[in-house]
Amino acid sequence: MTDPSADPHAFIQIEEVYHTRILEDALAAIGVKMKVSDPGVATRVLVRAMVHMPDQVSDVLVLCGEIFGVAVFALLLEKARELFAAQPRALARIEALFAQIMVDEVGHVHFVRSRLSPALVRVARRMAPLVAWGAMRDIPELVALFGRKRIMERMARADVDSEAAPYSDRFLVPTA
Ligand SMILES: [Fe+2]
Repeated sequence: MTDPSADPHAFIQIEEVYHTRILEDALAAIGVKMKVSDPGVATRVLVRAMVHMPDQVSDVLVLCGEIFGVAVFALLLEKARELFAAQPRALARIEALFAQIMVDEVGHVHFVRSRLSPALVRVARRMAPLVAWGAMRDIPELVALFGRKRIMERMARADVDSEAAPYSDRFLVPTA
């Protein structure tokens, strides 16, 4: 049996669990209590496919999901900056918490992408709108906040590195 602690997927799953807790903390900063509800049908189908499909298919779906995550977290952070501009302490807490999520998510995108051939990256690009459609179907609040068009545009841009660029958590620190 392989050592589960040597499997990067195990760490990614742990990080995803922690992201929910971090989001809970971010909401607590503005006095909102969060309750985690069961995932919708599209999300359940997607997660099942990620678990049961062969690695290459599953990685394509995971990449789409991770890019959707980066796009949505970036939009949420921008919305928080807009809404809490007059509450600098709460906003600073939200910024610090979102930075932790964003750095992880960008890492997930790079990890999964590194496992895909250029042809499968192209497949992921084609499938991304479908994954986004499913996620937006299950989380209509996202559509109400940002609109489908804006979410899809942000996802299509898929500029994941620039979303994490402001954060200092880096393996290599520029010397010049
Ligand atoms: Fe992720």
